[in-house]
Amino acid sequence: MVEQLTTASSLARLVPVHEPPAGREWWRSSVIYQIYPRSFRDLRGDGVGDLPGITAEIPALAELDIDAIWLSPFYRSPQKDAGYDVADYCSVDPLFGTLEDFDALVAEASRHNIRIIVDLVPNHCSDQHPLFQKALASPAGSPERDLFIFRDGTGDHGQNPPNNWQSHFGGPAWTRITEPDGTPGQWYLHLFDTSQPDFNWDSPAVHAEFEKILRFWLDRGVGGFRVDVAHALIKKSGLPDWGGRADGSSSEGFPGSDAPMFGQPGIHDIFRSWRKILDSYDGDRVLCAEATIDPIERLSDWVRPDEMHQTFNFAYLHHPWHAPALRHVIESSLHAFDRVGAPTTWVLSNHDVVRHASRFGLTGAGPRTGDGLGPQDEQPDLDLGLARARAATMLMLALPGGVYLYQGEELGLPDHTMIPDEFRQDPTFHRTAGVRVGRDGNRVPLPWKANLPSYGFSSTGESWLPQPPIWGRHSRDIEQRNPDSTLNLYRRALDLRRELDLGNGSLAWWPEHDDDGLVAFVNGGVLVAMNMGDAPVQLPDLPRLMGSSPDALEGARLRPNRTVWMRLG
Ligand code: NOJ
Repeated sequence: MVEQLTTASSLARLVPVHEPPAGREWWRSSVIYQIYPRSFRDLRGDGVGDLPGITAEIPALAELDIDAIWLSPFYRSPQKDAGYDVADYCSVDPLFGTLEDFDALVAEASRHNIRIIVDLVPNHCSDQHPLFQKALASPAGSPERDLFIFRDGTGDHGQNPPNNWQSHFGGPAWTRITEPDGTPGQWYLHLFDTSQPDFNWDSPAVHAEFEKILRFWLDRGVGGFRVDVAHALIKKSGLPDWGGRADGSSSEGFPGSDAPMFGQPGIHDIFRSWRKILDSYDGDRVLCAEATIDPIERLSDWVRPDEMHQTFNFAYLHHPWHAPALRHVIESSLHAFDRVGAPTTWVLSNHDVVRHASRFGLTGAGPRTGDGLGPQDEQPDLDLGLARARAATMLMLALPGGVYLYQGEELGLPDHTMIPDEFRQDPTFHRTAGVRVGRDGNRVPLPWKANLPSYGFSSTGESWLPQPPIWGRHSRDIEQRNPDSTLNLYRRALDLRRELDLGNGSLAWWPEHDDDGLVAFVNGGVLVAMNMGDAPVQLPDLPRLMGSSPDALEGARLRPNRTVWMRLG
């Protein structure tokens, strides 16, 4: 059987499990590059990246042939959760620049055909937001309090939280306030840090507030919104106790679908009303949900035709280095999203998880989202991690659908696992007394020039987090000059992906190789094969388009931890 299938013509006849999409909108096959502004490029010299730094590097990003940039928050914020605690949604924090800097960034990006997608943070704001400050100053039961989720405590004196919900960052999800008259008072809900009070989306005033925010940024020309914790906006009425995981993912006896703070049916009406607003603008603007909802069939409800355009695929991000598991998540994703006519998206790294160049260098699955790797943890095998990361990226870039890249992965950056405690800023570290080190390790400022202080990140050599000594070899200038660098691998793969229109393609599996660890499929005229096993695997004798490393093939055998793209015709 395998023998017969090794000719190009028989490979071309394999039955696809996914067909090309009917629509050709840009977001069905887009490559979206995530920028974490504080760590991208610091032109103003205070050790924190800024908007002018991003504008200056748009030409470098354009070389990667991306469609859009998603900017993590840059709004006015006390920075208790690196900007995901917003004090003014229609502003730029002076740390990052001004609204004029933002406009200049949009204009420069658009000159290079790159859209700017901003982060909408609708589940919670900062405790310094004027609306929350007003709520604190107003009496229980007032309209001001009704914008947030205030409740009386339990126990004889209201001294216990209203329910047992836990914060994502550790500790209880409720904080008790002191009323304006100085007495101990109500409690407010914060699914994240104490400084991030949850909005009450049962209040029409909250809807109106966010519609204004959407229009503010749409009017400024943004290409759309990445929606933070999009699954959490509505809470089940009565706020019943929950014994499952704080992030709502399924665990023994606690299916995620029962989590009272996530995935409630009323959410979809909010998405529909936002979609109408976006559709009233020209330019095919998009909504992308950050939603940790399982199983994937349930998640695809977020992208029905009148809701969001895309949702992140965290099941894919978390796939282990195991061929059957990877095949399963790819196929179930394609089925689930095809069912609703939406593109599947693929992502391997972001600012909340250990970078894939580190994850794939660990023997185990790595820490849970948000936990990070510290000096006490197993240290990744960096060479193995990088080889696998390059292979995994090449496989991802050949999949049909949309792709998200996280800044620095094109340089093959691993996490910084040795950050001294005194530099750590992630609230997870502080709320768990260091038991969970948190996400700072993947947020380290980027290396631009090997021989400059802070590797050229900042004009003064400052850096808000220390950079590891290996940043030198990963610096952009060094990688630009090396034809075999990870940067040049990304460039070539992204170019070919567009040229061959792989994002709008199909997917047919090459018959299963469970015993040898091969994941192989045909997309259009390309055979894509990744070897996740321990031994070389024989491939058909076809012309090679590119490999994840120069030594990917020995003859027609694919080495372990490598990927190749081969041409069928
Ligand atoms: C998800 C964001 O990606 C993460 O960085 C943030 O801490 C939480 N949402 C809270 O906004």
